[in-house]
Order: sequence, then C-alpha cells, then structure tokens
Amino acid sequence: MEKILDIITKEVKKGFASQGYEESYGRVTLSNRPDLCEYQCNGALAAAKAYKKAPFLIADEVAEALKGNSVFSSVESVKPGFLNLKVNEAFLAEYLFDMLKDKERFGCEKAEETKRIMIDYGGPNVAKPLHVGHLRSAIIGESIKRMGRFMGYEMIGDVHLGDWGLQMGLIITELKERKPDLVYFDETYTGDYPLDPPFTISELEEIYPTASGKSKEDKAYKDAAMEATFELQHGRKGYQALLSHILNVSVTDLKKNYEKLNVSFDLWKGESDAQPFIPDMVEKMKAEGHAYISEGALVVDVKEEGDTKEIPPCMILKSDGASLYNTTDLATIVWRMRDYHPDHIIYVVDKRQELYFTQVFRCARKTGLVEDGTKLTFLGFGTMNGKDGKPFKTREGGVMRLESLLAEINDEMYKKISENHTMEEGAARETAKTVALSAVKYGDLSNQASKDYIFDVERFTSFEGNTGPYILYTIVRMKSILAKYEALGKKAGDAKLLPAETEHEKGLMLELSRFSGAMELAWEELAPHKVCAYMYDLANAFNSFYHGTKIMAEEDENRQAGYISLLKLTKGVLEKCIGLLGFSAPDRM
Ligand code: ARG
Repeated sequence: MEKILDIITKEVKKGFASQGYEESYGRVTLSNRPDLCEYQCNGALAAAKAYKKAPFLIADEVAEALKGNSVFSSVESVKPGFLNLKVNEAFLAEYLFDMLKDKERFGCEKAEETKRIMIDYGGPNVAKPLHVGHLRSAIIGESIKRMGRFMGYEMIGDVHLGDWGLQMGLIITELKERKPDLVYFDETYTGDYPLDPPFTISELEEIYPTASGKSKEDKAYKDAAMEATFELQHGRKGYQALLSHILNVSVTDLKKNYEKLNVSFDLWKGESDAQPFIPDMVEKMKAEGHAYISEGALVVDVKEEGDTKEIPPCMILKSDGASLYNTTDLATIVWRMRDYHPDHIIYVVDKRQELYFTQVFRCARKTGLVEDGTKLTFLGFGTMNGKDGKPFKTREGGVMRLESLLAEINDEMYKKISENHTMEEGAARETAKTVALSAVKYGDLSNQASKDYIFDVERFTSFEGNTGPYILYTIVRMKSILAKYEALGKKAGDAKLLPAETEHEKGLMLELSRFSGAMELAWEELAPHKVCAYMYDLANAFNSFYHGTKIMAEEDENRQAGYISLLKLTKGVLEKCIGLLGFSAPDRM
C-alpha cells in the first residue's frame, strides 16, 4: 500500500500544480503543532520567493484548490503562508481497513529490489562464557536481521565465533597438565580420536580462566600455550581433534543460551574458517603491491586524503609471520564474497572497534577483496552500564555472565507476576520468562545503538512507562477485550472501520496509518530504536482510546464491530513490531 504521507503529499503537490506552481513545493511533513493540525506543508513560503508573490496568497490558492478533496477533512491556510492539514476520517477508516485485510504486512510493502545482506553479530568466544558484553550484539543484530527480512531482503546471519588464537593454546596446555595421558598429546598416535570430548562445558569454562590466570604469572606456561597455538595452527592432528571437541561442546552450550534470548544464526562460522584463505590473500596483496614490510611486519596503508585523524596502516602479518584479528576479518570477507557474494555486509560490534573496522574496510576495498557493489557497514554499539554509570558488573564486581543476568530478571518478573495473579507456578514461570525477555530487549533496543545506556532492572521491568512489559501489557489488554467480545457469541471478523468520532479514536487511527512509513525509516537507518518509539506512541494512543471509549458497552453493533477491527489492527501491528525486535507477548500477565 502507498504510504499515507505519500498519498497526502501527492494531493498537495497536485494542489500546487493546479495553481501553476512547481509541484515540488507540495512537500508535506508531520505537524510539529499537533494541537493545530495533523500534517503541514510550508511550501508556499519557499514558492513565494520564486514566484515573487506573498506566501499567504499562494497558500490561499492551494487551500482553495484542495477544498472538497476526499483525503482531507480540512486544509487551512494560515499566515504567513502555512498549510495546515487534517486527514479525512472516512478516508482514514478505509485506509486502515485495507491494512487490516493485509494480515502479514499491514500494508507495508517489500523493497522493490531484493538484496542479499550478511550480518555479522553475536561474536562470542569459544570456551569463554557469554557475558553481558555479548548481549547487545546479539539483541541488536537479531533485530536488524528480522527487520531486513520483513522489508524483503535476504538476510544471512553469521555468528562469527572467536575460535582462533591464544585461548585455544591455553586450553590445550592446561588440559595437558591435568590429563597428560590423553591420546591427543601422543605425537606418535595415528589412529582415530575418541568421539566423546574429554571435558564437559563446565570444566571447559573453568579451564580457560585458570589457564589464562596461570599464563599471566608463569612465563614458561605462556610460552607453552603459544607453542601449542602455533602447532594447532600448523596442523598438529591431536590438537585439531581437541579443537573440534572444544568447538562442539562450546557451540552446543552457546546455542542453548542464544535460544533463551530468541536469537538464532544461519551460519555458525568462526575465525578458524577464515584461516585457509589467508595465504592466497596475502600473496595477492603482496603481488599487487598493496602490502609492504614495515618494521618487520606486513602492512597495507589505508590512510586517505581528507582524513581528520591519523588512520594507522592495517597490519596483515606480524614480524614472526603470525596472522592477527585483522587478517582473519579480511580473510572472512574473502569467503563471504566467494560463497555468498553479498550486496552488503553489516557488522554489529562494540563501537570501540570502530577505528579497527575503518582499517579493515579500507584495506578490503583497496586490495579488491570486495567489489564496488558490496557495501560494508559498521554498526557500533555503546556500553551497557550499571546504575553507577560504569560497565555493568556483578554485585561482587566481576564480569556478569549472561545466564546469571537473565536468571535474575526472570526471578524478579516471576515475583511481580505471582503477586498480581493467581497463576499456576509453571504458567507463571513461563509468562515471567516471556515478559523478562521483553524487559531486557526493549530496554536495550529503545536506546539508540551507538549510545551507552544504563541497565536499570527496576525501570526495565516496570509495567508502566516506556518499557517492554508496558507494550506487552497493552497487547494482553487487547487480547482480553477480544476474548470478552467473543464470549458474548460475537465474531471478531474483519468488520469495516467507521470514521473516527473522537480525538482519541482519530489519534489511534493516525498512529496506525504511519506503520509502513515508520518501518521503512527504521530499516533505512538500521535503527531498532525507531521501531520502539513507534510502538510506544501506538501503545499510548491505544490506551488513550481505551480509556476514552466504552468498547464493550457500545450499543450500536456496527460501531462496536468497528472498534473491534481497530483493536485487532492495533494488536496485529504491535505484535508485528515486537516480532521484529525478537520477543513475543503472553496471553495473560
Ligand atoms: N569475538 C569478538 C569479541 O568478543 C567480536 C567479533 C566481532 N566481529 C568481527 N567480525 N570481528 O570482541
């Protein structure tokens, strides 16, 4: 369906053209004086200069021309030359009725041209537990992926596991100290390796920090870990078998945790998958004269004219020939281009890595790893802070594990729900989980991604204010009205909506009609917070309508059925929005 703003704009443009003015003056925006009008056009002010005529004369002419137009209930010309517009109630009701009939998309059109977009998010590190630092990438990335899919793009989510580097050598070294007799350490062994891993996930999660701690104290230990890393990276069989055990155990656990967050990935590729592409990539960079040796290391210059700050060269290989985080990201671009040929790659990563990604992107372009047609975007997010304004920590001051954080909020929510309700324990727990997830996700996504924010459990879990639970509460309210209506033996079908009779009703209808425009804008700016802002406005508009209207006591059956359609549409749109953000609503709460 055509966006409401476009329909309105088209009419106003026609109005200008009919009076002999350039139609481009008919640009319309949402009113910044909602007390006076719903939409406005300031074009007459600009036209006045071009046509050397008083602006209010032009505005008068256009207002006159638009009189009787079925899209408007009023078009007023106001000095010095504004056009104040109000939407016709019957037109609006028809528009919403068409939205209601479009059950999947509510009138929001797919992009004309589909594109393949890869999204790199999550970025957990193998054998290290997920901590709150990984939360934002998962939540934001998942939502961008869903928004893109809704807009009609082919979205491929890749978790980009941190599974390469010293942490693997550390684990191997520690394991060797504890269980030196394991066959993986026997270099003369030529048989098959056992299928069962020699550790559990909890052992693994304990082994890594222990090893990491030891390596900081003990130089010999660290050297051993570096040696093990080197051997692993150069193909030592037993170590590679261990690596796949570490990966399997870790990935199984990660999947379980991401599932709790309602986050899923299409690809479970990791840094290690990029390694085979490094040698050819490096050769090509050297052969084409992009890479050169500087102080022993192999680098590519990436500074550009017009840089306002120093952008250091991108280091490809260290002086000992070892590859780096950079090298892996570049080689990852190689396989992504070879296997998927995406039109766009979006990286959802901590904004502190911005300079790093500037280097990687420039290097990839300069050396021809990506074609001109492939866009690279860094979507950097800020830090999640505690109430003290410092990065979120446990009460003891340690790094908060994601699992513990979620468990804490689930409990908090469970308490609230069981206070409000007589619900069976199991059902209350389930509901608490659903609502808690909305609290965490909405609390995060309602902030502009690039900003730091304060994770305030009390505020996020509140049923009032700009929170996830408030949105869910509004949906639950609508579900319960629909149930009551149907309990009277009436069918909540798709009855025609009637023209609004009150301000509350019209306010809700106007808000609904903006759905597709809001989604398009949120997608264009990769801004889930705009979906949140739209939802919050819509939920508020609904609640005002609800408090100002006796829906169930309405005696006129047609009018009541129209209210029910309005309610169904609101519910559908809100549910669509929370789906795009990656959470869902319970039936009761
Ligand atoms: N594993 C990294 C970390 O924990 C994040 C990876 C981000 N993605 C990327 N392509 N570099 O910091």
